[in-house]
Amino acid sequence: MRRKLAAGNWKMNGTAASLGEIDALKQAFPAPGCEILICPPATLIHRMSERATGSAVMVGGQDCHWQETGAHTGDISAGMLKDAGASHVILGHSERRADHHETDAIVRAKAEAARARGLVAIICCGESLETREGGETLAHVGRQIAGSLPDGCTGTNTVVAYEPIWAIGTGKVPTLAEIGEVHDFIRAELVARFGPGAGNDIRLLYGGSVKPVNAAEIFGVANVDGALVGGASLKAGDFGGIVAALENA
Ligand code: 13P
Repeated sequence: MRRKLAAGNWKMNGTAASLGEIDALKQAFPAPGCEILICPPATLIHRMSERATGSAVMVGGQDCHWQETGAHTGDISAGMLKDAGASHVILGHSERRADHHETDAIVRAKAEAARARGLVAIICCGESLETREGGETLAHVGRQIAGSLPDGCTGTNTVVAYEPIWAIGTGKVPTLAEIGEVHDFIRAELVARFGPGAGNDIRLLYGGSVKPVNAAEIFGVANVDGALVGGASLKAGDFGGIVAALENA
């Protein structure tokens, strides 16, 4: 049985003034029926993890470097995230693949670094609109997960997030059949590569314009084990609606 995960990706949003959202989440979900994770900007990880201590809310990073220390101005290592209180790290988000030219090989190296430091890697994949319209979605996603996931992935060290680029921040969401097709495909690929045990334990999140109003139907799709939420994770009220839908799924 895979435990459901509601993950919030704050992207480049949030300052100290946003930390109250964690208090609100803690209050609303003292004993949640799913896992709750917030990945704030790096500047907030330490304060947020201190604020979340003793609660069910977990804190993660949005990226890490593949090396542990060294001359990489502006970068953060997996060990530093861990030191700041993070338990998870998002890797290979489409915004980083686009803005920072991250390849599958780079994402894979980052996932290995995260695992070495005991962080759960949330590895992202997803197609552009052009790729979808060209009928290449499954081939593209298949290549991304083959190249971005290291060997030895299990349900405890890895989560996969499917985020169609055209659905991110646009209010456009694939049909439930389209989401189901990709999630079933990813599940089959994971089972083929990691075996039925690990392959069936790795959680698959859907991401892209998940809101309180559409969350329940998305969570009803087979092989959707939760969501990776951008805009609707910034306010505890909105994110709480998504968490509640997941608890009831
Ligand atoms: P939105 O929920 O704002 O569409 O963002 C999704 C996302 O990119 C989460 O990583």
